[in-house]
Amino acid sequence: MGYSSENVRRVKEIFQNKYLAAQNDAQARKYELWAKLPEIRELDMAISALGLEAVRTTVGGGENARQRIMELKKQSIELQEARKNLLLSKGYPADYTAVHYECEKCGDTGYLETKMCDCMKRALILAGYESSGLGKLMQTQTFDSFSLDFYRAKSEIYEKMKHNFEFIKRFAEEFSTGKCVNLALFGGTGLGKTHLSTAAAKTVIDRGYDVLYVTAVSMIADFEKERFGSGYSDTDAGSLGRYYDCDLLIIDDIGTEVTNQFTVSVLYNVINVRLAKQKSTVISTNLAPAELRSRYWDRIASRIFGEYTPLLFEGTDIRMQKLRMKNGN
Ligand SMILES: Nc1ncnc2c1ncn2[C@@H]1O[C@H](COP(=O)(O)OP(=O)(O)OP(=O)(O)O)[C@@H](O)[C@H]1O
Ligand SMILES: [Mg+2]
Ligand SMILES: [Zn+2]
Repeated sequence: MGYSSENVRRVKEIFQNKYLAAQNDAQARKYELWAKLPEIRELDMAISALGLEAVRTTVGGGENARQRIMELKKQSIELQEARKNLLLSKGYPADYTAVHYECEKCGDTGYLETKMCDCMKRALILAGYESSGLGKLMQTQTFDSFSLDFYRAKSEIYEKMKHNFEFIKRFAEEFSTGKCVNLALFGGTGLGKTHLSTAAAKTVIDRGYDVLYVTAVSMIADFEKERFGSGYSDTDAGSLGRYYDCDLLIIDDIGTEVTNQFTVSVLYNVINVRLAKQKSTVISTNLAPAELRSRYWDRIASRIFGEYTPLLFEGTDIRMQKLRMKNGN
């Protein structure tokens, strides 16, 4: 699986802090209690003395060790019972000084022996949402909120869009790093290219992969920052390495960036290196396939046409359709 290493580092740090905070909180409650109820302090001291003696007896061994340990255990249980009753009689919950972890299963360590706990997997997915660059789009633009009804005006268009939808959904649900699948979404404005790319991104992140979504413009800007050394920091959006290494890169709105030697070479590089590394990429563009061919070097175009599955989006601008529906006509 491909959780980004930066996210893994960050999430582990968060878990460590959470774990320590839970311990500290419990300790603080204990000291507070000791100040108010010195009898509890006495009992705690006595209980820990018994524990210590039990350890000593175990280590020392000897004839009667086993018998002695049984006695110590019995005494300890009695004292703990007394402590519990005292707490309850003073109006405290019996587990007032126990450590309260957010996840009782793993005690906020993130692991059950060597297996990662579900709580840490969830945290990594949330971190994945954040580092994907998708922000709020991900809450609204899902496969569930995608409706084929908007393409019903013409049956050939409906069939094509149904195919596109099913193709992209299957791509996301079956995504794996073992298989390089690249998609090129072509089509006019407002036809659902970004919507379906976002939906795919979310599904792939949910399945535990590292996904990066960018517009061509922001990708070029990132590379420019590095080129001119204008304060590009690794903490911004992860280093440029992620463009080459993430499991799935989505470059949206290709063709809206300024076209010059530099921008074309960035695009060429990213597309080419990812193909060489067998990493999947999804691009989308308003340009018609022929325009794409004439705007970019032949080398880019031939890679896109040779190695990407083209999906043509057709229909009537859904932004407009929704606006008209809202205005009631
Ligand atoms: N089939 C659909 N069902 C529901 N909402 C849709 C559908 N297609 C698009 N939308 C919505 O319409 C708006 C425009 O869609 P989207 O941004 O995906 O278009 P696009 O093809 O990426 O356009 P552009 O080329 O301008 O970027 C978005 O708010 C999106 O959620
Ligand atoms: Mg778009
Ligand atoms: Zn857990």
